[in-house]
Amino acid sequence: MKSYIIKGGRALYGSIDINGSKNAALPILAATLLADGECKISNVPDLTDIKNMCELLSCLGCEIEKRYDTYEIFCSNPKSDIMSYETVNKLRASILVAGPLLAKTGKIRISMPGGCQIGARPIDLHLKGFTSMGANVNQGHGYIEAECQRLHGAKIYLDFPSVGATENLIMAASVAKGTTIIENAAAEPEITNLADFINKMGGKVYGAGTDNITIEGVEALKGTDFSVIPDRIEAGTFAFAVASTKGCAIINNVITEHLKPIIAKLNECGVYTKANENSLIVDASNGAGSADIKTMPYPGFPTDLQAPYVALMSGARGTSMVVETVFENRFMHIPELGRMGASIKVDGRTAVVEGTNLTGAKVKATDLRAGAGLVIAGLNAYGETVIEDVGHIERGYSNFAERLNSLNADIHIQ
Ligand code: UD1
Repeated sequence: MKSYIIKGGRALYGSIDINGSKNAALPILAATLLADGECKISNVPDLTDIKNMCELLSCLGCEIEKRYDTYEIFCSNPKSDIMSYETVNKLRASILVAGPLLAKTGKIRISMPGGCQIGARPIDLHLKGFTSMGANVNQGHGYIEAECQRLHGAKIYLDFPSVGATENLIMAASVAKGTTIIENAAAEPEITNLADFINKMGGKVYGAGTDNITIEGVEALKGTDFSVIPDRIEAGTFAFAVASTKGCAIINNVITEHLKPIIAKLNECGVYTKANENSLIVDASNGAGSADIKTMPYPGFPTDLQAPYVALMSGARGTSMVVETVFENRFMHIPELGRMGASIKVDGRTAVVEGTNLTGAKVKATDLRAGAGLVIAGLNAYGETVIEDVGHIERGYSNFAERLNSLNADIHIQ
């Protein structure tokens, strides 16, 4: 895998455009399986995860054409293929095809996802929901098989507001017979974007963006055009990168409403921000102080920005406490940050970060967001940082090094 070589200590300044959201595009691409006609999805980011999702859709019989950031997808008759261990391991979000495929073909066979760097990642909530909707779900030999005639509406309470389970169940319910109610549903903007897409295809999804979503099943969904929302996690990552280098930049093509928890924390750290309708100015010329965070489902502070935030706090003034409540093992970046001189004590799901002067070192990206955190630390550190295995980073940020370099960073790709 490639490495980034970062010469730290250069303030980031200028302007940057944010791409379409990876986590919104993935379920929307999966939902095209539900349409009887062609869908045209635009503002799709150019990422390995998206490429892998498109490969999976092709294997399921979809015809896909890509023009710049727009994907024309035609999948009127998907086949129920086996999703192997390799497929699911390569793209965790491949579980998102389970809901639409089960609803459309009446049968799925999918490898149980294993654990990953950030936790066990079970899918029990997805499966319980399918069972409530009338599917016969069995597990054996590392695979999950589910079968049904036509799914029916159900009242489903999620023990945790899982993003993936909410998306899978909305997709399955949209063409089920009758009405489904999802209680304690996830309320992330990516869920609302998916619901808007399904509604544009002729679906009837109400209440997305709240914890109570009602889906009236329809007989069929038609093809349509749709644009993916900007990536709030990418925007937050750039904002923290600017803040960590005492820089000043305009982050364009964002929905500032989605950035509320990020803006609140930046302000608490003494970083000036100005939110316009579609852009955010971040001015950290006076450096960043510290503030505590606790990751929570939306609209709380996003777990996907915990590693970038810890990196920012590692080089900030003062001491902060970071509590990770969403994933049980999401502190893999901390030992790597320690190699760069960060002073962080971890006790269970809590990290106490004492800001200090970071120094460049050789470190390894263990997963996507951990890798983004190391880049932020490297941009701020004194001297040279070498980050290995940056392929993880490129799963979620397109041209990350090049775009940071356009803001005055000095990152060489090897
Ligand atoms: C999505 C995002 C990921 C983000 C996460 C939480 C995508 C492609 N990925 O992942 O970037 O970090 O939301 O915001 O959108 N859980 C269960 N049982 C289940 C499902 C989940 O116990 O059946 C638990 C998980 O182990 C985890 C928590 O619920 O502790 C949140 O997971 P979930 O919201 O499902 O995350 P994903 O949809 O996988």
